[in-house]
Amino acid sequence: MATVGQIIFYSMVTLNVILAAFIILILSLAFSKSTSKVRSSNTKPVANLGEDHILSCYIPAEIQQNSLSVVLVSWEKMDLGPIYRYENGAPALDGQVSQFKGRAQVFPDAVARGNASLLLRSVRRSDEGEYACSIRSSVGQGKVSIQLRTAVFSAPTLNFSNSILTSEASRWFPKPDVTWLNQTGKVLNASTRFTEVSAGIYSVLSTLQSAQVSETYSCRIENNLVVAVTEATITGTGVLGRTFFTFSLASTLLVSFYLNLITGVLCIFHVV
Ligand SMILES: *[C@@H]1O[C@H](CO)[C@@H](O)[C@H](O)[C@H]1NC(C)=O
Repeated sequence: MATVGQIIFYSMVTLNVILAAFIILILSLAFSKSTSKVRSSNTKPVANLGEDHILSCYIPAEIQQNSLSVVLVSWEKMDLGPIYRYENGAPALDGQVSQFKGRAQVFPDAVARGNASLLLRSVRRSDEGEYACSIRSSVGQGKVSIQLRTAVFSAPTLNFSNSILTSEASRWFPKPDVTWLNQTGKVLNASTRFTEVSAGIYSVLSTLQSAQVSETYSCRIENNLVVAVTEATITGTGVLGRTFFTFSLASTLLVSFYLNLITGVLCIFHVV
């Protein structure tokens, strides 16, 4: 008769093996993708609504040969159809989806070097979705898919007077959260006011009381797609600020799934 301890031990081991196999499967899927001849430097970009955005798609330099010639570039939006075609050195736009007329183009010089990145002008909400970029060339052909998401984000402007530090950003969508931290990473009390400036788009005014000269504070404005971290240093004469943007890489669901999986596996290793 197996003891309870043994049963637990063997079921842990079994679970462990299953999870390991699962991770190997995920890794091999990830690797098989990267053997395609066509890549994108960002397959999950977040575009700022109303601004131009470049969707990245190219043949990496290391697999190009001296005489690369690109025969065909084709961009497609999966739910709508063809949005841009570039064939034998010229645009071929018959059948182009109307939403993209006059708003999409490749860079001819770049195409000659295997770079088929697409410039999308004045991004709209309806541009969100899945795109496929295909390149046919003398070194072979390939395809990459890109998931475009849209948001509105802007760097805040800072102001300091009478010990009050304010951070004011003109346009955010979806509505963000604002957090202030000091240099040791402690969350500070602050108050934030949101004003809806147009449908769903908010301006942000956040106020930190009793801020001190020569201290550095960090103001984090974030929603599910974009994080803007502004480092504000109060000097004798004003505030110096720098803002860094980072973008969510995948759907949060997928990220938390991977994380759960990894922590799950780590826990099991720990127990065993
Ligand atoms: C491809 O071309 C675009 C547009 O000029 C540029 O922004 C991008 O950095 C290029 N990518 C590569 C990998 O060369």
